[in-house]
Amino acid sequence: MEVLSVAAEVHPLIKTGGLADVAGALPLALSDKGVSMRTLLPGYPSVMAKSQGGRVVAEIGDLFGAPGRLIAGRFSGLDLIIIDAPHLYDRPGNPYVAPDGWDWPDNWKRFAALSWVGAELAWGLVEGYRPSVIHCHDWQAGLVPAYVKYGTADGIKTVMTVHNMAFKGFFGREIFGQLRLPPQAFEVGGVEYYGGISYLKSGMECADYVTTVSPNYADEIRTPQFGMGLEGLLNGRAETVIGILNGIDTGSWNAAVDPALPQKYSGNTVHLRRVNKAALVEKFGLDGEDGPLFCVISRLTDQKGMDLLLQALEGLVGLGGRLIVLGSGEGYLEDGFRHASMIHPGKVSIITGYNEELSHLMQGGADAIIIPSRFEPCGLTQLYGLRYGCVPVVSRIGGLADTVIDANPAALDAGVATGIMFDANSAHALYEAIRRTVRLYGEDKTWKKIQRRGMKSDVSWETSAGRYAELYATLTGLTINDEPND
Ligand code: ADP
Ligand code: GLC
Repeated sequence: MEVLSVAAEVHPLIKTGGLADVAGALPLALSDKGVSMRTLLPGYPSVMAKSQGGRVVAEIGDLFGAPGRLIAGRFSGLDLIIIDAPHLYDRPGNPYVAPDGWDWPDNWKRFAALSWVGAELAWGLVEGYRPSVIHCHDWQAGLVPAYVKYGTADGIKTVMTVHNMAFKGFFGREIFGQLRLPPQAFEVGGVEYYGGISYLKSGMECADYVTTVSPNYADEIRTPQFGMGLEGLLNGRAETVIGILNGIDTGSWNAAVDPALPQKYSGNTVHLRRVNKAALVEKFGLDGEDGPLFCVISRLTDQKGMDLLLQALEGLVGLGGRLIVLGSGEGYLEDGFRHASMIHPGKVSIITGYNEELSHLMQGGADAIIIPSRFEPCGLTQLYGLRYGCVPVVSRIGGLADTVIDANPAALDAGVATGIMFDANSAHALYEAIRRTVRLYGEDKTWKKIQRRGMKSDVSWETSAGRYAELYATLTGLTINDEPND
């Protein structure tokens, strides 16, 4: 079974968020299920730098304005096809945003090209390569199902995975003429969306199956509150919409061998985490007092509820807690945490920017991770937290609600609690959750039990990769031989 995955970011080559983690980990998990997955990825500078020695497998005379070529090879443990097209992708920094902070004005073209190449690959652009399924991730790959639907090739199946409904890839109607789609594609059942074009909606409309990244979010997005205008579409095709929970790469997230941790540990030696905590206290310039250390590792945005945390911060410090933040995003939120760190020196500290290694140390040393999202398709940091004994304090929403078991009295009695949960969108509820966390932290035996239980949660890809494999099999009618590839 050959599946082509089309994604705008793939860890460890390029990452701005959880999409990269998923696109990077799923192929490995699927290889144990008899599915061979190749990934098509734009050749940003960081990707080109890590793909030396690849083979040129196709030359494209006109790839939306200039020539391009495809480079194939095995890089960073992944089978990749990279689009080498400097006029589209040879730009520094973030893959979507220019240095001035605005989206690149030709994003419509950059990701139409990604999708167009995806569809062309299924039609034999590269000799000897014919995938049976194209698995498209988020709006950047959303035009693939439209190219397939309005094209001529038979037998190619498409799956559209929605990682985040908030990003629709919406552009004005004027680009339509340049998308290489036939006129009839500009219709409600095609790419049209409120008079313009939405790449995400196109994918959700035209794909054979729509998946999203947790069962709970799959339910939520059928309602006006979370559907963001696409709930009608989803309800209209409810029998081909499913939620498959994300897993994590348990190889690179393993506290027993993680090179980012000065002190490795396991469930039996969870007390050793205090060595890592001490390293964090020093790194973030906190004072040395004891007490629960909360962390945040996140994009600092409205989705993530960071304004709610700012409102609850005074309370967190008042309860004897300390907070360390790693992230970047909206200026007013970065400023808010910076301001808080000045008012509460030694208690609150922020490091802005992106730092994969530090994120591991925080999961391996902080006592709890706060995730107060307003909506959360799946969320990965609570899964890393579970795996590392960094107790997740999460809003009862999306994938967070699917993956954390609240430490209420019944769950504590039954020994199944793995975290603390509170109603979303309320600073007061967040504060109460922090208060509950501080109290539980004070009961050492109970706290360690919650940590250990979390560390035993199944956060691997095992089950979910199997569900994707089943989905591909259902779509294609092919049987999967689940002997591991290679
Ligand atoms: P989203 O994709 O919505 O941002 P997820 O929880 O699914 O949220 O994934 C976020 C990913 O990005 C996780 O792997 C998390 O550890 C990582 N991450 C977020 N911010 C940072 C940061 N500033 N430094 C390092 N890693 C980060
Ligand atoms: C998105 C979502 C996040 C999810 C990630 C990977 O960025 O915001 O909840 O975990 O994609 O699927």
